[in-house]
Amino acid sequence: MSLKPTAIDARSGAPADVPKLCYVRKRRHDAPDAWTLEIEFAESVPFSYTPGQFNMLTAFGVGESAISISGPPGQGRLIHTIRDVGPVSHALTRLAPNDPVGVRGPFGVGWPMATAEGQDVVIVAGGLGLAPLRPAIYHILSRREHFGDVWLLYGARRPEDILYRSEIEEWRKKGHIDVNITVDHAGMDWPGHVGVVTGLLSHVNMDVSRTIAMLCGPEVMMRFVAASLTEKGLGVGRIFLSMERNMKCAIGHCGHCQLGPAFICRDGPVFTFERMGPLMSVKEL
Ligand SMILES: Cc1cc2nc3c(=O)[nH]c(=O)nc-3n(C[C@H](O)[C@H](O)[C@H](O)COP(=O)(O)OP(=O)(O)OC[C@H]3O[C@@H](n4cnc5c(N)ncnc54)[C@H](O)[C@@H]3O)c2cc1C
Ligand code: FES
Repeated sequence: MSLKPTAIDARSGAPADVPKLCYVRKRRHDAPDAWTLEIEFAESVPFSYTPGQFNMLTAFGVGESAISISGPPGQGRLIHTIRDVGPVSHALTRLAPNDPVGVRGPFGVGWPMATAEGQDVVIVAGGLGLAPLRPAIYHILSRREHFGDVWLLYGARRPEDILYRSEIEEWRKKGHIDVNITVDHAGMDWPGHVGVVTGLLSHVNMDVSRTIAMLCGPEVMMRFVAASLTEKGLGVGRIFLSMERNMKCAIGHCGHCQLGPAFICRDGPVFTFERMGPLMSVKEL
């Protein structure tokens, strides 16, 4: 008996519902509850992705989870930063170098990198929301002259939860991005800003006629940031956010990720606030 694949990956022609065998090559402890894995395909396969897309990662024998691609596009290895919140993410974050892991993807519609060219860009990340935004930052840095002013506003719970510290320091030092960080709670040794990420918006000198905003983090944070941006006059079609819902198939078949008329896996995860704003304010959805 042969199992028929239900969907074909448009890029590689391979079945999109069957994980490809990969191996973990590196594991880095990034924050108290988050690890970054560097993953390599067991066999060389065509794989390309755009910033903001995600993979379904399989911890064999445990299950599968949607995890954003957080490395630079065009790199041989896949980079994923994972927070240990439940059974699958726990198993994934325990994987060690040379352990097998399954990968399906890449899936979804990512950040509007072409639309953002020629514009100023405000990137607002909350917690692990920096992971799916990091490929967008790499993309901007690789084509820096094609973008106007770029701000990164990043909020973490505590100083020790700040991800990618050395890279952020490098971005800050090189001055190609205006980096602003805030934490919710800090000791006396934290010299930076304390408070919610919306408090950092005052650091942005925004020309609303030529600005694109990219937001990723807890939904409540994205709602508040989007509301502040619209109050400043930024159009709802210029605000992009990445949504999270529980995923199963990731290819628009099962309806698990449905939010109103949108399937987050297929139509997103990145949407305009114009499209998502009305759905985000409905409690039952
Ligand atoms: C497009 C997309 C990209 C994602 N990218 C990342 C990433 O880069 N790194 C990362 O660590 N996680 C990411 N997630 C979230 C990740 O998929 C879930 O945290 C994971 O599936 C949890 O599985 P689990 O078995 O470990 O925990 P579960 O037992 O399934 O859940 C543990 C807790 O997390 C909550 N939860 C589970 N899934 C989600 C979700 N999708 N959104 C909000 N809350 C959820 C549950 O309600 C529960 O409270 C992403 C999700 C989506 C949809
Ligand atoms: S996860 Fe199945 S339709 Fe989106």
